[in-house]
Amino acid sequence: MANQDFQSFLDEVVMKNDIVEIISGFTTLKRSGSGLMGLCPLHNDKKSPSLSVSPDKQIFHCFGCGAGGSVIQFVEAAMNLDFMDAVKYLADRVHMEMPNTRGGDKQRQLILSRKKERLYQINALAARYYYERLSEPEGRPGLEYLRNRKISNSTIKKFGIGYAPEGWSNLIDHLKKQGCSESDMYDAGLVRKRENGTYYDAFYDGRVVFPIIDVRGRIIAFGGRIIRDGTDAPKYWNTPETMIFKKKDNLFGLNLAKNDKSGRLLLMEGYMDVVALHQSGFGNAVASLGTSFTSEQARLVKRYASRAVLCYDNDEAGKKATLRAGDILFDEGVKVRVLTVTDGKDPDEFIKNKGPDMFAVLIEKAEPLIEYKINEIREKYNLNDVDDKVDFTREASAVLARVKNPAQREIYVSRLADELKISAGSIMAGITEFERANARIEARRVENERVRQTVRRERVGTENARGLYWAERLLLNQMCDKRVMKRVRECGITPDDFTCDPVHRRLAALLFELSDKGVRPEPADIISRSLPEDAGPVSDILMSDKNIEDKLSASVGPTETIMKAKEERLIAGGAYDDEQLMRLFEKKKQRKL
Ligand code: CTP
Ligand code: MN
Repeated sequence: MANQDFQSFLDEVVMKNDIVEIISGFTTLKRSGSGLMGLCPLHNDKKSPSLSVSPDKQIFHCFGCGAGGSVIQFVEAAMNLDFMDAVKYLADRVHMEMPNTRGGDKQRQLILSRKKERLYQINALAARYYYERLSEPEGRPGLEYLRNRKISNSTIKKFGIGYAPEGWSNLIDHLKKQGCSESDMYDAGLVRKRENGTYYDAFYDGRVVFPIIDVRGRIIAFGGRIIRDGTDAPKYWNTPETMIFKKKDNLFGLNLAKNDKSGRLLLMEGYMDVVALHQSGFGNAVASLGTSFTSEQARLVKRYASRAVLCYDNDEAGKKATLRAGDILFDEGVKVRVLTVTDGKDPDEFIKNKGPDMFAVLIEKAEPLIEYKINEIREKYNLNDVDDKVDFTREASAVLARVKNPAQREIYVSRLADELKISAGSIMAGITEFERANARIEARRVENERVRQTVRRERVGTENARGLYWAERLLLNQMCDKRVMKRVRECGITPDDFTCDPVHRRLAALLFELSDKGVRPEPADIISRSLPEDAGPVSDILMSDKNIEDKLSASVGPTETIMKAKEERLIAGGAYDDEQLMRLFEKKKQRKL
């Protein structure tokens, strides 16, 4: 189907799916001025609504996390779908048939999805290459390493573990023979670039390689563990973020664990823990990918299991990470327990020391997060001492302030009251105080974030540059108005005159293009015609006209600012001749009349 047809199909999908209706399925929206506001379901937005939705424009923007766009971008983010799947979901919803998009279609989205397809393929070829090394002489060190760590052949096969032998171009040479381009290898994160523009293998220093596989079974990235001792090289090197790999959205081992029927996931810190657990019969183990646990990962957990057990390393770092991940999961509504590894530094070692049966006992003994936290606090105090007892009660109340479920809260409070011989009422009063304080802190955090984002936008140093930045944004907003667009053209402004941000230039070009075609630019259409990564900033720009009554008169200031900058650029660059300069002054005179 032709470009244009697909675009009108998208427009229709967007038109038929009311953004307010869709977003209301995820969060409660309340009227505020000309729009709607709500807690943003795309990030951990707890108390102060930072998501704003415009029913007129049919777009949304969150000043907390920066996400924004039309209903398509919302569904992409909220349901963790890629663009095409989000479109399909929305089309299904309004009983529209997805067009057959095969054939010689030049559509941008299709080019994009074809590129992604190539990256998946390249990763699959690379995984096979690494895996096959293990049965070749050059893979001996890797195989020996895995043997030493008691990883069986069938586990190796199940996870597709491989080995990348030392060398700068083993993989590059192999993939070239398979017809892959170096730039695709680079975009897949498999090779790195030297300053002179040539490429080298990302895993060049002898690493056991773990493929990271998404829930649809596609290899999206790799983690490589060095096997040589005593080097300065990092223990793990992982694929950087790519078009197909967003670290925060994935969990290692979930491709296998998702088939587990227990309704419970075991969360590990390390790849090795996951591998060891699966080998010992715990098919529900997963790990976050070398980053601290994210709320996206928590939502992913929730999609496959209602309960999670945190099995982090038995050290200070592990304990800290446990509390962080625990809170995030808890806030997403997952029932979290915390397992304490009692022998060895991590689950992998524990299983080696004590065996799988004992690990099963640890799982059963895992404490609910709230109890775990309160117990950790209790350890610090001597409850026979009055002052200690007061402090303990305070700290425990702070923990209970997070518990939103009234029944659950009451149970913990009455237990605490029994233990401490304090009335439940006075503990409750303390908790309420914390809740209020938390609300204030959260409100301040949101406000700070808003300020931070503004400052980030204003990163351009001088007052002038800052003024220009805001002028560009304002004018872009107003250029959706036909009269403003006409005037902008009369002033000789072109997309290249939007110099503060590539997003500005692209949006300007798009607005010019639409106006050339005589199309009235609707915000949601503008977004569907923008690059995916521009959706957030573009929706921000399109929504920033809350207090503007008359666009035409409001556009005078920003137009002048941009014209002035243009003149300065021309003069500074010497890129004008007398004739050009004359024309410029003529235009300026006309404007003044
Ligand atoms: N990690 C990382 N980069 C590092 C160190 C760690 O990405 N330089 C990530 C990896 O995902 C790793 C996890 O953090 O699996 C936990 O680290 P660690 O406990 O050191 O790794 P293990 O998988 O337990 O590996 P091993 O048992 O071989 O020490
Ligand atoms: Mn570990």
